Amino acid sequence: MQFRSDYFGDRAAFQALVDLLFDTFEIDIGQLDRLGGPGPTSMPFGYFDETGRCVANFSAFSTPLIIDGRRVRAVGYQSGAVRPEYRGRGLYRDLMQRAFAWAKAEGFELGMLLTDKPGLYEPYGFRVIEQHMFRGPMPAGATALPCRQLSIENDADVALIRSVLVDRMPVSERFAVIGHIEEFLLNACFDPSIRLSHMPDHDAIIAWREEAGTFHLLDIASREIPLLAQVIAAVQTRAERAAVYVPTDRLGWTGETGRYEGSCDLMVTGDTDALFKLEPFMLSPLAEF
Ligand SMILES: CC(C)(COP(=O)(O)OP(=O)(O)OC[C@H]1O[C@@H](n2cnc3c(N)ncnc32)[C@H](O)[C@@H]1OP(=O)(O)O)[C@@H](O)C(=O)NCCC(=O)NCCS
Repeated sequence: MQFRSDYFGDRAAFQALVDLLFDTFEIDIGQLDRLGGPGPTSMPFGYFDETGRCVANFSAFSTPLIIDGRRVRAVGYQSGAVRPEYRGRGLYRDLMQRAFAWAKAEGFELGMLLTDKPGLYEPYGFRVIEQHMFRGPMPAGATALPCRQLSIENDADVALIRSVLVDRMPVSERFAVIGHIEEFLLNACFDPSIRLSHMPDHDAIIAWREEAGTFHLLDIASREIPLLAQVIAAVQTRAERAAVYVPTDRLGWTGETGRYEGSCDLMVTGDTDALFKLEPFMLSPLAEF
């Protein structure tokens, strides 16, 4: 077996990771080809068998954050999987240790991951941090603004979304991701219930869904964040209540705070004091990785 890191320049090796993640999680990150390619800061660590199959992987990537108004150099970990026939031999432990050592040498302040197996990462200093969302009545109506529904299947729309994501304003001064372009695009692909609307007046991409009379605001990628009332007037929802999945400090609206129960726990390590003091906050579902 061959250990390789930083192998995305090799097309066949990237495809082998696509296959590993599809076989393990039934998600197709090969869609990134159409969406602009894998993130330039991705640092994969993997083992390959003699036929070139990727049998184990764990990746790190740079994910700068805003925490309480301060820009923080953070590293995210993702794409962790080992093929069933290779499990229980310490391959994942080896890859985690390599990735964590790389991140330490790079001098990241904070590490972050999402997992349904927190016990896997606790020995390495990761702690689960609660996430909170915000619910309440709809804000009073604003004047209707122009708005167009986008399709993640349409190349021109993808180019528009990318161009906004490249220099987006953090959706919150309390907690926000800054980059996360590939994650935003992939999450929009993976979940067909997510609607993407463009408000040209703000050059804002609104990620949202409507369910059972509730408007769910998942994220806003924009050079200038619109108020929630403007968003609602633009997308023309008939919902009676709002649920917001990002901190609301820039939205001109506050809601009741409730624990967010996602399928995965958010875990953090490193210089996390500011983050633990910050609650309530959450990572947008479009930023999940
Ligand atoms: C979880 C997974 C990556 C572990 O891979 P692996 O190569 O069998 O793991 P290792 O043999 O290197 O074990 C590493 C450590 O994790 C522990 N571990 C393994 N599976 C675990 C689990 N499901 N929950 C908690 N700890 C686990 C091992 O006991 C070992 O602990 P040790 O270092 O104290 O001895 C693998 O089972 C897998 O791919 N599962 C499906 C995908 C998945 O869940 N990925 C993780 C997403 S966050």
